[in-house]
Amino acid sequence: MITTSGLTKVYESRGRKVTALDGVDLHVREGEVFGVIGQSGAGKSSLIRCVNLLERPTSGTVTVDGVDLTALAGKSRRAGKDLRRARSSIGMVFQHFNLLSSRTVKDNIELPLEILGVSGAERSRRALELLDLVGLADKARSYPGQLSGGQKQRVGIARALAGEPKVLLSDEATSALDPETTRSILQLLRDLNQQLGLTVLLITHEMDVVKTICDSAALMQHGRVVESGTVAELLATPGSQLAAELFPVSGAATGPDRTVVDVTFHGESATQPVISQLSRTYNIDISILGAAMDTVGGRQIGRMRIELPGRYEDNVVPVGFLREQGLQVEVVEEDAETPAAAATALVKEGAK
Ligand SMILES: Nc1ncnc2c1ncn2[C@@H]1O[C@H](COP(=O)(O)OP(=O)(O)OP(=O)(O)O)[C@@H](O)[C@H]1O
Ligand SMILES: [Mg+2]
Repeated sequence: MITTSGLTKVYESRGRKVTALDGVDLHVREGEVFGVIGQSGAGKSSLIRCVNLLERPTSGTVTVDGVDLTALAGKSRRAGKDLRRARSSIGMVFQHFNLLSSRTVKDNIELPLEILGVSGAERSRRALELLDLVGLADKARSYPGQLSGGQKQRVGIARALAGEPKVLLSDEATSALDPETTRSILQLLRDLNQQLGLTVLLITHEMDVVKTICDSAALMQHGRVVESGTVAELLATPGSQLAAELFPVSGAATGPDRTVVDVTFHGESATQPVISQLSRTYNIDISILGAAMDTVGGRQIGRMRIELPGRYEDNVVPVGFLREQGLQVEVVEEDAETPAAAATALVKEGAK
């Protein structure tokens, strides 16, 4: 639904060049909620602003619903008109709502329809329908100043939906809201995604947002996408930073001669009693040091850090058993007793 390829954005201010996007390839499937996460300055806002051409990319292409927006940008008047039409199929929700304080809630929602030249009666009908959809049917005549933050964001979302977009872009839509309101706004976005088949691309710096509603996620660092995939794919990727942050586990070995492993559960394996099977089959005591389980997209998914008695060499067979059950197992190396850690220690030694 949304594809960017080789997307680059270089800002020039006072003779200094800042590369905000450095060759971003992103693919958002139709009907999914896709989260882009990254630290401040990673280029998230630049990315979303380039996707709807609010910001002109320096190079690369942006395709939304089969239309190459970059090819339309800033060429002939005809292309300009096509670009405006293509952009009306993209709704945008902002962190600070961007509502007009002098207009009523209903008039705020009608604004994009006015710009599209929709007749008064039709505008009014659509606005009331949208207010109902976001749960604010009784606020049509209120002014933004009379609403709570969560209600303002609901108006922002209704306005973004006015042009019946197929894609909704959201830049930190919940970061000005308290946790409770955040949850209700995320739920609304999820409902809209499901009811209307809306594709949602959202930017956030909160891992919880990704965990709550995203089907897929990408991690941005220094203008680049360094990881990207469905939550299940990320979990299945050894060493994935996103997976580790989505399902953080900690806990150190309780003594010498212990093997600590992180086990990732997803899909079928999450419902099998593998840990108790492991314990019975090999007659070993297993300690759980930490766990992070959650339901993502209706499926149980998560990680567990467990400890087995003995060194890694003694546990090759039980670890193999876990892998055979379809689980992803990563050995946590905390001292130089495991081969990989020993290798790392040697490298460090050599570097001295
Ligand atoms: N209009 C601009 N002119 C010059 N530099 C800019 C402009 N907009 C953004 N930048 C720079 O581009 C880089 C990426 O900024 P961007 O706003 O995309 O980051 P972000 O990931 O959205 O950060 P945050 O989480 O703080 O919103 C930063 O170094 C920023 O200073
Ligand atoms: Mg930003």
